[in-house]
Amino acid sequence: MLKICMVGTGYVGLVGGACLADFGNNVLCVDIDAKRLEQIKSGIMPIYEPGLRELVERNYSSGRLQFTTDLGSAVRESSVIFSAVGTPMREDGSCDLTAVFQVAKDIAGHIDEYKVIVQKSTVPVGTSEKVGNIIEEHLGSKVEFDRVSNPEFLREGSAIEDFLRPNRVVIGVESERAREIMREIYRPLYLFETPVVFTTIRTAELIKYASNAFLATKISFINEIADLCEKLGADIDEVAKAMGLDRRIGPKFLHAGVGYGGSCLPKDVSAIMYTAGDAGVPLRVITAAHDVNESRVPVVMDKIQSEIPDLDGKNIAVLGIAFKPNTDDIREAPSLKLIDFLIEKGARVRAYDPAAMDNAREKYDNRITFCDNAYRAVEKADALVIMTEWNEFRVLDLDKVKDLMKELILFDCRNIYKPGRMKDMGFKYHSFGR
Ligand SMILES: NC(=O)c1ccc[n+]([C@@H]2O[C@H](COP(=O)([O-])OP(=O)(O)OC[C@H]3O[C@@H](n4cnc5c(N)ncnc54)[C@H](O)[C@@H]3O)[C@@H](O)[C@H]2O)c1
Repeated sequence: MLKICMVGTGYVGLVGGACLADFGNNVLCVDIDAKRLEQIKSGIMPIYEPGLRELVERNYSSGRLQFTTDLGSAVRESSVIFSAVGTPMREDGSCDLTAVFQVAKDIAGHIDEYKVIVQKSTVPVGTSEKVGNIIEEHLGSKVEFDRVSNPEFLREGSAIEDFLRPNRVVIGVESERAREIMREIYRPLYLFETPVVFTTIRTAELIKYASNAFLATKISFINEIADLCEKLGADIDEVAKAMGLDRRIGPKFLHAGVGYGGSCLPKDVSAIMYTAGDAGVPLRVITAAHDVNESRVPVVMDKIQSEIPDLDGKNIAVLGIAFKPNTDDIREAPSLKLIDFLIEKGARVRAYDPAAMDNAREKYDNRITFCDNAYRAVEKADALVIMTEWNEFRVLDLDKVKDLMKELILFDCRNIYKPGRMKDMGFKYHSFGR
């Protein structure tokens, strides 16, 4: 079995490292955050991801999965080094590669024999070459290494399933030796006949961005159609359902609402626009998808203000802070823009999220009230805004909600309730495209 080093223990590194260990490999997970590693070792996961604790514990106790801050020895002991550190968005929309380049510098001095260096982070086309150059510059001795691009497509909330049973694996590789090693790593997936796309490194880098930009485009597309439905008296749920039954279109990513957020789509859409700008190729469709998404939270703000012109001193319940259900990730979550707006207008925000409260507390401290559950959040509320479609918000006891709220105004930003039923119950109900 291979000895693998995984640098970065975030959503991708920790899930990927644990899954590669589950395949039977020996995996050394490295992070600069010692506290995070100590917590993982004691069974406290730094992220909310269903099934992760059990997977990590099983592989950690078997000895196949280890955690260390000692990058040097992890690199020396491993034949394959995956880099899965963060690549956030810079102010100007470009991709911040500081951590990626830092890892390249840090590993270079410890490469003492042939290694395969795999980029798992989402990085702009050409990054692998730059990483290669940095490693060459900082190599301690003249040794060979190969570069590979292996972008990750897992979704937070179903990350383990996605890693273990992906729709496809993309591997950009330009040497036969590295190709064989990558084939060996992903051999367990051949059992499920997972398509493995071998391609060049640049193509692999672009596949990731093109995929995310396409998903973002689908969301923005359906959101514009929702606006049109609203004006024309059509129903977006039925439009989307019927569209999705066409196999050329497919039902996924056709849910109208407040738009996409999270740690991937917004930054990856911005980054590909930035890359394309540099290359002199205008990406008009993707740019439009981005612009439409930027306008989604303002649409909600307008709906709220037309119902409640003066928000000063009003109690507004917000259910859902995470950018989507089954994650605690609040990066670029639409809820943040909305909460900021409500605070600015003087509203008193009472919020609840099943998993993202700690992350939200870090951001808002005591500027909003964090509630133990949905019902506490709606107490005496002048309006309720549902921002994330967690299952528990789909099955709220609406009679209880009605009794607790001061005014029956509901903004359902994920279209999880039926307008007719809500009207019958006496709610002033707002959603998208219905
Ligand atoms: N989160 C997702 O759903 C997802 C899905 C597919 C691809 N990706 C991509 O994968 C990459 C990682 O994303 P993430 O969400 O896992 O990031 P993250 O922010 O959750 O985790 C990054 C980790 O890297 C560590 N780190 C930073 N610098 C380091 C260094 N020099 N040495 C060692 N460790 C270091 C951090 O301490 C942190 O634990 C990004 O490029 C992202 O776009 C993410």
